[in-house]
Amino acid sequence: MTTMPTRSPMDRAVAGRTSYLMIHNTSEVVTPEPEGRGVVRHPKGVVVFQDGRVLEVGTGAEVVRRHSEARPINAHGRLVTPALVDCHTHMIFAGHRAGEFQRRLAGEDYAAIAASGGGIRATVAATLAERDDVLEKTLANRLERWRANGCTSVEVKSGYGLTPTAELRLLHLIRAAALRVPVRVHRTALVLHALPDDYRGRRAALLDELCGQTLPEIRRRDLATAVDVFCDPVGFSLKECRRVLECARELGFDLHVHADQLERTRGAALAAELGARSADHLENAIEKDWKALARAGTVGVLLPVAALSLGLRLPEAAMLRRSGARVAIATDFNPGTAPAQSLLECGALAARLCGLNAEETLLAMTYNAARALGVEAEAGHLNPGAFGDAVVWECETLEELSYWLPAVRPDAVFVRGADLALPTLERRVWP
Ligand code: NIG
Ligand code: FE
Repeated sequence: MTTMPTRSPMDRAVAGRTSYLMIHNTSEVVTPEPEGRGVVRHPKGVVVFQDGRVLEVGTGAEVVRRHSEARPINAHGRLVTPALVDCHTHMIFAGHRAGEFQRRLAGEDYAAIAASGGGIRATVAATLAERDDVLEKTLANRLERWRANGCTSVEVKSGYGLTPTAELRLLHLIRAAALRVPVRVHRTALVLHALPDDYRGRRAALLDELCGQTLPEIRRRDLATAVDVFCDPVGFSLKECRRVLECARELGFDLHVHADQLERTRGAALAAELGARSADHLENAIEKDWKALARAGTVGVLLPVAALSLGLRLPEAAMLRRSGARVAIATDFNPGTAPAQSLLECGALAARLCGLNAEETLLAMTYNAARALGVEAEAGHLNPGAFGDAVVWECETLEELSYWLPAVRPDAVFVRGADLALPTLERRVWP
């Protein structure tokens, strides 16, 4: 009779090391609660990952004892939160518009610059002229920077192609870049951003093509899960946006709307009516619009750097609270209005500009942002079953996250339960 060799305790420990670990010795672990209506703070908490997901989060010797076989990771008395979620970026583009920024500082307005051939169209020309491999690699590098800043879920919109063909190209490149990096990328087709030159005087033809061919093709090839439109006087009318969003909804896409940014165009009301995942910008939305978002379960996304760049006011926290709407904060990273590369810094700005407290600010960059992407079951919190995506921050208290400027740095960023090395570039570029 043959006997199986008994496994030594060391074998068992090694086997567990790859997938079963516990972050301990924290100052606190803070996570949104399962419904995302508030956060739970676990003083000196621990979080346990197994097979890439959260197994348990809690406080006390009992939890630690239960997981005595997990590989211990010492947080050295630092704060642990879920990894951040950036639910609104325009990350695929070439060049920059620092010159235009100077013109705006000197008093020229955004719409006038756009009308004179600058603005979105300037970036479209630069992006069209750039090689595929350069765009793809630049995007992959940006995603790595986001990870180093504590974001492991990032939405990326196309939008600097404008024509259906050019938008398809960008969506392909977003997919290719996303395959290279350990970041969860959510692809959105921003199909109404600015009117392409070839369609001047033929606006209806663009909408026909989008609804008849482009959106079905994006769906067939699984190039994006969501569709976005820029509902604004310098973008597209409410009627045009409604038409494209209705086609997109019919095809099963999630919906996002750039709404009520430069003027109150009723984009938020449209987003609520159509059950969009999010309505974004909203600087000119009023309380009634926020209440409509609350009723529809549509997340309102604040983009503080874009608001600052355009001299627009963000809503006050008291009104947001009264409305009952879920509020997210995102970078809106783009070369025109928001060259913002750190979501946490955007959170720190929104906290100051709106009066959001530390718990609301964290919720806005985690659970609510995940909800804007429809992934709140698995991302944006550390409740059992969620992805093992967490950050050990170089600070002790939650309140410090929206306090320090430049923002607090991550000490470690876990993706699916793995503490992967962060790009060294970050250490050279950032203070
Ligand atoms: O979200 N509002 C429309 N789109 C971008 C800005 C685009 C640009 O200026 O390049 C935004 O702010
Ligand atoms: Fe945007």
